[in-house]
Amino acid sequence: MLYNFDDIINRKNTNSMKWDNIKLFGRDDLINMWVADMDFPCPEPVVKALKERAEYPVYGYSFPPDSLYEAIVERLDRNFGWEIKKEWIVFTAGVVNGLYSAVRAFTYPGDEVVVQPPVYYPFFNAIKDNGCQVLHNHLAFDGERYTMDFNKLEELFKPITSFPVRMPRIKMLILCSPHNPVGRVWSKEELTALGEICIKNNCMLISDEIHGELMVGDVKHTVTATISQELEQQSITFMSASKTFNLAGLATSFAVIPNDHWRREFIKSRAGYNSGNFFGFTALEAAFRYGDEYLSQLLLYLRANVKFFTDYINNKIPRLKVIKPEGTYLAWVDMRNLGMNTLELQDFIRSKARLALDDGYAFGPGGEGFQRFNLACPRIILQQALERLEQAVEEL
Ligand SMILES: Cc1ncc(COP(=O)(O)O)c(C=O)c1O
Repeated sequence: MLYNFDDIINRKNTNSMKWDNIKLFGRDDLINMWVADMDFPCPEPVVKALKERAEYPVYGYSFPPDSLYEAIVERLDRNFGWEIKKEWIVFTAGVVNGLYSAVRAFTYPGDEVVVQPPVYYPFFNAIKDNGCQVLHNHLAFDGERYTMDFNKLEELFKPITSFPVRMPRIKMLILCSPHNPVGRVWSKEELTALGEICIKNNCMLISDEIHGELMVGDVKHTVTATISQELEQQSITFMSASKTFNLAGLATSFAVIPNDHWRREFIKSRAGYNSGNFFGFTALEAAFRYGDEYLSQLLLYLRANVKFFTDYINNKIPRLKVIKPEGTYLAWVDMRNLGMNTLELQDFIRSKARLALDDGYAFGPGGEGFQRFNLACPRIILQQALERLEQAVEEL
Protein backbone atom coordinates (compact mmCIF):
# COMPACT_ATOMS: atom_id res chain seq x y z
CA MET A 1 0.00 0.00 0.00
CA LEU A 2 1.14 3.53 -0.78
CA TYR A 3 0.89 5.88 2.21
CA ASN A 4 0.37 9.59 1.71
CA PHE A 5 2.12 11.31 4.59
CA ASP A 6 1.22 14.71 3.10
CA ASP A 7 -2.40 14.20 4.16
CA ILE A 8 -3.36 16.41 7.07
CA ILE A 9 -5.14 14.51 9.81
CA ASN A 10 -7.08 16.65 12.22
CA ARG A 11 -6.02 15.59 15.71
CA LYS A 12 -7.79 18.38 17.59
CA ASN A 13 -10.56 17.20 19.92
CA THR A 14 -9.24 13.63 19.91
CA ASN A 15 -7.77 13.84 23.43
CA SER A 16 -4.39 14.11 21.80
CA MET A 17 -1.66 15.02 24.27
CA LYS A 18 0.11 16.96 21.53
CA TRP A 19 -2.86 18.84 20.07
CA ASP A 20 -5.40 19.11 22.89
CA ASN A 21 -3.29 19.62 25.99
CA ILE A 22 -3.09 23.33 25.26
CA LYS A 23 -3.44 24.31 28.92
CA LEU A 24 0.29 23.82 29.14
CA PHE A 25 0.96 26.52 26.59
CA GLY A 26 -1.86 28.87 27.50
CA ARG A 27 -3.14 29.44 23.95
CA ASP A 28 -4.69 27.44 21.13
CA ASP A 29 -3.25 29.06 18.00
CA LEU A 30 0.06 27.20 18.10
CA ILE A 31 1.42 24.67 15.63
CA ASN A 32 2.14 21.65 17.80
CA MET A 33 5.54 20.10 17.31
CA TRP A 34 6.33 18.91 20.80
CA VAL A 35 5.33 15.43 22.20
CA ALA A 36 7.09 12.64 20.27
CA ASP A 37 4.27 11.05 18.34
CA MET A 38 3.54 11.40 14.65
CA ASP A 39 0.76 13.28 12.88
CA PHE A 40 0.48 10.32 10.52
CA PRO A 41 -1.88 7.33 10.46
CA CYS A 42 -0.66 3.97 11.75
CA PRO A 43 0.26 1.16 9.35
CA GLU A 44 -2.79 -0.29 7.66
CA PRO A 45 -2.09 -3.89 8.87
CA VAL A 46 -2.13 -2.60 12.45
CA VAL A 47 -5.47 -0.86 12.00
CA LYS A 48 -6.89 -4.02 10.40
CA ALA A 49 -5.66 -6.28 13.22
CA LEU A 50 -7.06 -3.93 15.87
CA LYS A 51 -10.44 -3.73 14.14
CA GLU A 52 -10.64 -7.51 13.95
CA ARG A 53 -9.79 -7.86 17.62
CA ALA A 54 -12.25 -5.15 18.61
CA GLU A 55 -15.03 -6.93 16.69
CA TYR A 56 -14.75 -9.89 19.06
CA PRO A 57 -16.70 -8.48 21.98
CA VAL A 58 -14.91 -10.01 24.96
CA TYR A 59 -12.17 -7.90 26.44
CA GLY A 60 -11.26 -10.01 29.45
CA TYR A 61 -7.83 -10.74 30.96
CA SER A 62 -5.39 -12.13 28.45
CA PHE A 63 -1.69 -12.83 28.07
CA PRO A 64 0.80 -12.23 25.25
CA PRO A 65 0.55 -15.02 22.69
CA ASP A 66 3.53 -17.15 21.65
CA SER A 67 3.27 -15.65 18.17
CA LEU A 68 4.07 -12.21 19.63
CA TYR A 69 7.21 -13.49 21.35
CA GLU A 70 8.21 -15.12 18.06
CA ALA A 71 7.60 -11.88 16.12
CA ILE A 72 9.90 -10.01 18.53
CA VAL A 73 12.62 -12.68 18.48
CA GLU A 74 12.58 -12.76 14.66
CA ARG A 75 12.62 -8.98 14.27
CA LEU A 76 15.53 -8.40 16.65
CA ASP A 77 17.54 -11.06 14.84
CA ARG A 78 16.62 -9.78 11.36
CA ASN A 79 17.06 -6.05 12.03
CA PHE A 80 19.86 -5.98 14.58
CA GLY A 81 21.52 -9.39 14.43
CA TRP A 82 20.54 -9.90 18.05
CA GLU A 83 19.68 -13.52 18.89
CA ILE A 84 17.57 -13.43 22.01
CA LYS A 85 15.64 -16.10 23.87
CA LYS A 86 11.91 -15.76 24.15
CA GLU A 87 12.22 -16.04 27.96
CA TRP A 88 14.25 -12.83 28.08
CA ILE A 89 11.28 -10.70 27.01
CA VAL A 90 9.28 -8.96 29.73
CA PHE A 91 6.34 -6.74 28.79
CA THR A 92 5.85 -3.32 30.34
CA ALA A 93 3.16 -0.67 30.08
CA GLY A 94 5.42 1.72 28.18
CA VAL A 95 9.14 2.33 28.31
CA VAL A 96 8.98 5.03 30.97
CA ASN A 97 6.95 2.69 33.14
CA GLY A 98 9.67 0.07 32.61
CA LEU A 99 12.41 2.54 33.54
CA TYR A 100 10.63 3.29 36.81
CA SER A 101 10.44 -0.47 37.50
CA ALA A 102 14.13 -0.91 36.76
CA VAL A 103 15.20 1.89 39.10
CA ARG A 104 12.84 0.55 41.79
CA ALA A 105 14.13 -3.01 41.40
CA PHE A 106 17.84 -2.36 41.48
CA THR A 107 18.48 0.61 43.74
CA TYR A 108 18.11 1.69 47.34
CA PRO A 109 17.11 5.27 48.17
CA GLY A 110 20.15 7.50 47.96
CA ASP A 111 21.86 5.44 45.27
CA GLU A 112 23.14 7.26 42.21
CA VAL A 113 22.06 6.79 38.62
CA VAL A 114 24.02 8.34 35.75
CA VAL A 115 22.35 10.05 32.79
CA GLN A 116 23.92 12.01 29.96
CA PRO A 117 22.18 15.35 29.50
CA PRO A 118 20.71 16.98 27.59
CA VAL A 119 18.48 13.92 27.63
CA TYR A 120 14.84 12.77 27.56
CA TYR A 121 13.59 14.37 30.78
CA PRO A 122 11.47 11.51 32.23
CA PHE A 123 14.79 9.78 32.98
CA PHE A 124 15.32 12.34 35.75
CA ASN A 125 11.85 11.67 37.20
CA ALA A 126 12.28 7.88 37.15
CA ILE A 127 15.42 8.33 39.25
CA LYS A 128 14.26 11.05 41.64
CA ASP A 129 10.76 9.63 42.19
CA ASN A 130 12.42 6.44 43.43
CA GLY A 131 14.49 8.35 45.95
CA CYS A 132 17.77 8.13 44.03
CA GLN A 133 20.20 10.81 42.96
CA VAL A 134 20.74 11.91 39.38
CA LEU A 135 24.39 12.04 38.41
CA HIS A 136 25.15 13.96 35.21
CA ASN A 137 27.76 12.91 32.73
CA HIS A 138 27.23 15.82 30.32
CA LEU A 139 27.48 15.05 26.63
CA ALA A 140 30.38 16.84 24.99
CA PHE A 141 29.37 19.31 22.25
CA ASP A 142 31.71 20.93 19.75
CA GLY A 143 29.05 23.17 18.25
CA GLU A 144 28.20 20.62 15.56
CA ARG A 145 28.03 17.20 17.11
CA TYR A 146 27.50 15.54 20.47
CA THR A 147 29.67 12.76 21.86
CA MET A 148 29.90 10.89 25.16
CA ASP A 149 32.55 12.09 27.59
CA PHE A 150 34.21 8.86 28.72
CA ASN A 151 36.93 10.55 30.77
CA LYS A 152 34.40 12.40 32.89
CA LEU A 153 32.36 9.22 33.23
CA GLU A 154 35.39 7.32 34.58
CA GLU A 155 35.95 10.14 37.06
CA LEU A 156 32.43 9.76 38.44
CA PHE A 157 33.20 6.23 39.57
CA LYS A 158 36.33 7.23 41.51
CA PRO A 159 36.11 7.87 45.26
CA ILE A 160 37.42 11.25 46.38
CA THR A 161 39.28 10.96 49.65
CA SER A 162 40.23 14.64 50.09
CA PHE A 163 37.66 17.25 51.13
CA PRO A 164 34.84 17.23 49.99
CA VAL A 165 34.89 13.44 50.35
CA ARG A 166 32.75 11.44 47.96
CA MET A 167 32.07 7.71 47.95
CA PRO A 168 30.26 6.90 44.72
CA ARG A 169 27.03 4.92 45.01
CA ILE A 170 26.45 4.46 41.29
CA LYS A 171 24.12 1.55 40.53
CA MET A 172 23.18 2.16 36.96
CA LEU A 173 23.52 4.31 33.89
CA ILE A 174 20.49 5.07 31.72
CA LEU A 175 21.51 5.40 28.09
CA CYS A 176 19.30 6.93 25.43
CA SER A 177 20.16 5.16 22.18
CA PRO A 178 19.47 6.73 19.73
CA HIS A 179 19.70 9.86 21.80
CA ASN A 180 16.65 12.05 22.31
CA PRO A 181 16.93 15.06 21.90
CA VAL A 182 20.31 15.39 20.16
CA GLY A 183 19.62 12.71 17.53
CA ARG A 184 22.89 10.80 17.82
CA VAL A 185 22.96 7.13 16.83
CA TRP A 186 25.83 5.84 18.95
CA SER A 187 28.54 3.98 17.05
CA LYS A 188 29.79 0.50 17.94
CA GLU A 189 33.03 2.05 19.19
CA GLU A 190 31.20 4.45 21.49
CA LEU A 191 28.97 1.70 22.85
CA THR A 192 31.98 -0.55 23.36
CA ALA A 193 33.79 2.13 25.35
CA LEU A 194 30.68 2.83 27.42
CA GLY A 195 30.08 -0.87 28.02
CA GLU A 196 33.65 -1.40 29.19
CA ILE A 197 33.34 1.36 31.77
CA CYS A 198 30.03 -0.06 33.03
CA ILE A 199 31.38 -3.60 33.29
CA LYS A 200 34.58 -2.47 35.01
CA ASN A 201 32.57 -0.60 37.61
CA ASN A 202 29.78 -3.15 38.01
CA CYS A 203 27.24 -0.61 36.81
CA MET A 204 24.03 -1.81 35.14
CA LEU A 205 23.52 -0.38 31.68
CA ILE A 206 19.88 0.43 31.02
CA SER A 207 19.52 1.10 27.32
CA ASP A 208 16.39 2.88 26.10
CA GLU A 209 16.26 1.97 22.40
CA ILE A 210 12.73 3.10 21.66
CA HIS A 211 13.94 5.14 18.65
CA GLY A 212 16.17 2.32 17.35
CA GLU A 213 14.33 1.80 14.07
CA LEU A 214 14.03 5.47 13.15
CA MET A 215 17.20 5.97 11.16
CA VAL A 216 17.13 9.28 9.28
CA GLY A 217 20.86 9.65 8.57
CA ASP A 218 23.49 7.41 7.04
CA VAL A 219 24.32 5.26 10.05
CA LYS A 220 22.89 2.04 11.44
CA HIS A 221 21.64 1.43 14.94
CA THR A 222 23.60 -0.99 17.08
CA VAL A 223 21.79 -2.65 19.96
CA THR A 224 24.00 -2.02 23.00
CA ALA A 225 23.65 -5.60 24.24
CA THR A 226 25.10 -6.99 20.98
CA ILE A 227 28.53 -5.49 21.73
CA SER A 228 29.59 -8.52 23.80
CA GLN A 229 28.09 -11.39 25.76
CA GLU A 230 29.39 -9.82 28.93
CA LEU A 231 27.55 -6.58 28.18
CA GLU A 232 24.43 -8.53 27.23
CA GLN A 233 24.40 -9.89 30.81
CA GLN A 234 25.13 -6.44 32.23
CA SER A 235 22.31 -4.62 30.43
CA ILE A 236 18.56 -4.25 30.17
CA THR A 237 17.21 -3.08 26.82
CA PHE A 238 13.88 -1.29 26.46
CA MET A 239 12.14 -1.43 23.11
CA SER A 240 8.74 -0.75 21.64
CA ALA A 241 6.83 -0.36 18.39
CA SER A 242 5.32 2.86 19.65
CA LYS A 243 7.64 5.43 18.04
CA THR A 244 8.32 3.54 14.80
CA PHE A 245 4.68 2.76 14.06
CA ASN A 246 2.95 5.54 16.02
CA LEU A 247 1.30 3.39 18.68
CA ALA A 248 2.23 5.29 21.85
CA GLY A 249 -1.37 5.54 23.09
CA LEU A 250 -1.50 1.75 23.42
CA ALA A 251 1.08 1.89 26.23
CA THR A 252 2.78 -1.40 25.37
CA SER A 253 6.50 -2.06 25.25
CA PHE A 254 8.99 -4.67 26.36
CA ALA A 255 12.30 -5.12 28.09
CA VAL A 256 14.89 -7.69 27.05
CA ILE A 257 16.68 -8.97 30.16
CA PRO A 258 19.19 -11.77 29.48
CA ASN A 259 20.40 -11.94 33.10
CA ASP A 260 18.13 -14.48 34.87
CA HIS A 261 18.45 -13.01 38.33
CA TRP A 262 17.83 -9.46 37.13
CA ARG A 263 14.82 -10.61 35.12
CA ARG A 264 13.21 -12.15 38.18
CA GLU A 265 13.85 -9.02 40.24
CA PHE A 266 12.52 -6.78 37.47
CA ILE A 267 9.32 -8.81 37.13
CA LYS A 268 8.70 -8.47 40.86
CA SER A 269 9.08 -4.70 40.66
CA ARG A 270 6.43 -4.18 37.95
CA ALA A 271 4.01 -3.21 40.69
CA GLY A 272 0.40 -3.86 39.70
CA TYR A 273 1.16 -5.09 36.19
CA ASN A 274 -1.01 -8.13 35.50
CA SER A 275 -2.12 -9.22 32.06
CA GLY A 276 -1.13 -6.23 29.92
CA ASN A 277 -3.17 -4.55 27.22
CA PHE A 278 -4.20 -6.98 24.52
CA PHE A 279 -4.86 -4.22 21.98
CA GLY A 280 -1.25 -3.23 22.54
CA PHE A 281 -0.07 -6.80 21.99
CA THR A 282 -2.19 -7.12 18.83
CA ALA A 283 -0.82 -3.88 17.40
CA LEU A 284 2.79 -4.69 18.34
CA GLU A 285 2.66 -8.07 16.61
CA ALA A 286 0.98 -6.71 13.47
CA ALA A 287 3.50 -3.86 13.28
CA PHE A 288 6.53 -6.12 13.75
CA ARG A 289 5.27 -8.71 11.26
CA TYR A 290 3.66 -6.56 8.58
CA GLY A 291 4.85 -2.99 9.17
CA ASP A 292 7.99 -2.88 7.04
CA GLU A 293 6.33 -1.54 3.91
CA TYR A 294 5.04 1.38 5.99
CA LEU A 295 8.38 1.90 7.70
CA SER A 296 10.37 2.15 4.49
CA GLN A 297 7.99 4.80 3.12
CA LEU A 298 7.93 6.60 6.47
CA LEU A 299 11.73 6.81 6.64
CA LEU A 300 11.90 8.31 3.15
CA TYR A 301 9.37 10.94 4.14
CA LEU A 302 11.08 11.71 7.44
CA ARG A 303 14.47 12.03 5.76
CA ALA A 304 12.99 14.49 3.28
CA ASN A 305 11.45 16.42 6.18
CA VAL A 306 14.81 16.58 7.95
CA LYS A 307 16.40 17.92 4.76
CA PHE A 308 13.61 20.43 4.16
CA PHE A 309 13.84 21.67 7.75
CA THR A 310 17.63 21.90 7.77
CA ASP A 311 17.85 23.62 4.38
CA TYR A 312 15.15 26.12 5.33
CA ILE A 313 16.87 27.11 8.56
CA ASN A 314 20.33 27.22 6.98
CA ASN A 315 19.13 29.41 4.10
CA LYS A 316 16.50 31.61 5.67
CA ILE A 317 17.08 31.68 9.43
CA PRO A 318 20.88 31.41 9.67
CA ARG A 319 20.92 32.78 13.21
CA LEU A 320 19.68 29.33 14.25
CA LYS A 321 21.60 26.10 13.92
CA VAL A 322 20.10 22.65 13.36
CA ILE A 323 21.86 19.69 14.92
CA LYS A 324 20.97 17.26 12.17
CA PRO A 325 19.58 14.01 13.59
CA GLU A 326 21.03 10.62 12.64
CA GLY A 327 18.13 8.90 14.36
CA THR A 328 14.68 9.86 15.76
CA TYR A 329 12.31 12.29 14.01
CA LEU A 330 13.33 15.06 16.40
CA ALA A 331 15.47 18.04 15.53
CA TRP A 332 17.51 19.84 18.15
CA VAL A 333 18.01 23.48 17.29
CA ASP A 334 20.60 25.78 18.79
CA MET A 335 19.01 29.21 19.33
CA ARG A 336 21.67 30.60 21.66
CA ASN A 337 22.58 33.14 18.99
CA LEU A 338 19.31 34.97 19.66
CA GLY A 339 20.83 36.04 22.98
CA MET A 340 17.76 35.23 25.11
CA ASN A 341 17.63 33.60 28.51
CA THR A 342 15.55 30.42 28.89
CA LEU A 343 12.29 32.13 29.81
CA GLU A 344 12.66 34.81 27.13
CA LEU A 345 13.24 32.10 24.54
CA GLN A 346 10.25 30.09 25.78
CA ASP A 347 8.04 33.17 25.54
CA PHE A 348 9.40 34.08 22.11
CA ILE A 349 8.65 30.61 20.72
CA ARG A 350 5.12 30.57 22.10
CA SER A 351 3.99 34.18 21.76
CA LYS A 352 5.91 35.38 18.70
CA ALA A 353 6.61 32.27 16.60
CA ARG A 354 3.36 30.65 17.82
CA LEU A 355 4.86 27.18 18.05
CA ALA A 356 4.50 24.51 20.72
CA LEU A 357 7.97 22.96 21.03
CA ASP A 358 9.90 21.27 23.81
CA ASP A 359 12.08 23.79 25.64
CA GLY A 360 15.69 22.71 25.67
CA TYR A 361 16.25 23.47 29.35
CA ALA A 362 13.75 20.73 30.29
CA PHE A 363 16.29 18.18 29.01
CA GLY A 364 18.71 19.16 31.75
CA PRO A 365 22.04 20.97 31.79
CA GLY A 366 23.29 21.81 28.31
CA GLY A 367 19.76 22.22 26.97
CA GLU A 368 19.45 25.94 27.72
CA GLY A 369 19.05 28.01 24.56
CA PHE A 370 17.90 25.04 22.48
CA GLN A 371 14.47 23.95 21.27
CA ARG A 372 13.34 20.48 20.18
CA PHE A 373 11.14 20.16 17.09
CA ASN A 374 9.13 17.07 16.18
CA LEU A 375 9.41 16.70 12.41
CA ALA A 376 6.91 13.83 12.05
CA CYS A 377 4.20 15.89 10.41
CA PRO A 378 3.01 16.68 6.87
CA ARG A 379 5.56 18.87 5.09
CA ILE A 380 3.12 21.71 4.60
CA ILE A 381 2.76 22.00 8.40
CA LEU A 382 6.51 22.02 8.72
CA GLN A 383 6.68 24.80 6.16
CA GLN A 384 4.04 26.86 7.97
CA ALA A 385 5.90 26.42 11.25
CA LEU A 386 9.17 27.51 9.66
CA GLU A 387 7.52 30.57 8.09
CA ARG A 388 6.21 31.61 11.49
CA LEU A 389 9.64 31.14 13.01
CA GLU A 390 11.37 33.04 10.21
CA GLN A 391 9.02 35.99 10.55
CA ALA A 392 9.38 36.06 14.33
CA VAL A 393 13.18 36.07 14.09
CA GLU A 394 13.08 38.82 11.44
CA GLU A 395 10.94 40.98 13.70
CA LEU A 396 13.41 40.81 16.56
C1 LIG B 1 13.82 8.09 24.64
C2 LIG B 1 12.38 7.86 24.96
N1 LIG B 1 12.04 6.89 25.82
C3 LIG B 1 10.75 6.65 26.15
C4 LIG B 1 9.74 7.41 25.60
C5 LIG B 1 8.33 7.15 26.00
O1 LIG B 1 8.01 5.83 25.88
P1 LIG B 1 6.64 5.26 26.43
O2 LIG B 1 5.55 6.10 25.85
O3 LIG B 1 6.64 3.86 25.94
O4 LIG B 1 6.71 5.36 27.91
C6 LIG B 1 10.05 8.42 24.69
C7 LIG B 1 8.98 9.27 24.13
O5 LIG B 1 9.19 10.31 23.60
C8 LIG B 1 11.40 8.65 24.36
O6 LIG B 1 11.75 9.60 23.50
